[in-house]
Amino acid sequence: MRDFPADRYVRAARAIADIVEAEWHQAHPGDTVIRRHVGTDPLPADAWADAVSGARAPEADRSGPQRVGVALAARLAGELAAADAVLLAVPLYNFGVSQHIKTWIDLVIAAPSDGREAGPLLAGKPTVLVAVRGGAYGAGTPREGWDHSTGYLRRILADVWGAELTVVEREFTLVGVNPALDQFTDLAAQMKDAAHAAAREAGRALTVAVAA
Ligand SMILES: Cc1cc2nc3c(=O)[nH]c(=O)nc-3n(C[C@H](O)[C@H](O)[C@H](O)COP(=O)(O)O)c2cc1C
Repeated sequence: MRDFPADRYVRAARAIADIVEAEWHQAHPGDTVIRRHVGTDPLPADAWADAVSGARAPEADRSGPQRVGVALAARLAGELAAADAVLLAVPLYNFGVSQHIKTWIDLVIAAPSDGREAGPLLAGKPTVLVAVRGGAYGAGTPREGWDHSTGYLRRILADVWGAELTVVEREFTLVGVNPALDQFTDLAAQMKDAAHAAAREAGRALTVAVAA
């Protein structure tokens, strides 16, 4: 992936997530929002191995790093379990998820389930996944099938964790950033408008689902 000046990037995922969150705040003013910016404030990459091995060891025998890893995993899973709703904003990087989001997911899965009710972590919980991509990967496009992020995230959130999942997607965010994509300017603008409209709808649905 070519590098372009930082000020040309559009922060597309954040913009869409902000729309969803604004709808939420309108219906639930004053609610606490727990944020995890795993891209800019990454979780330690070595915590997962410590959490996995620590969870398998008797508590008294855990090393210092294993204790830290197990506690971090439990905290991350606890945040999800306690939330009324969940919102994720995830760009596509190198045709997959970033190491940061993968570390977060791996840690949550490694968390001991004690203290939580039986059943999937997000069973029935309204959850919005914002997925953005610089290129386009729809049916019939040259790179159809190259997005290895969105399907994986759906699998984890909906199938493994049981979330009531809504996915808001925006493609071609690199149009206007990468001159090679200039021919797609109109299509990209339509995609942006559609994604922002879908975000408003998803935000409203989230508030209705939680109020119900
Ligand atoms: C290092 C890097 C790798 C990327 N890899 C891909 C990719 O494989 N496919 C793609 O469609 N876009 C890719 N992109 C573009 C991003 O998905 C796109 O810029 C997206 O809008 C970033 O999210 P943001 O706007 O919320 O910051 C990449 C961007 C960067 C910086």
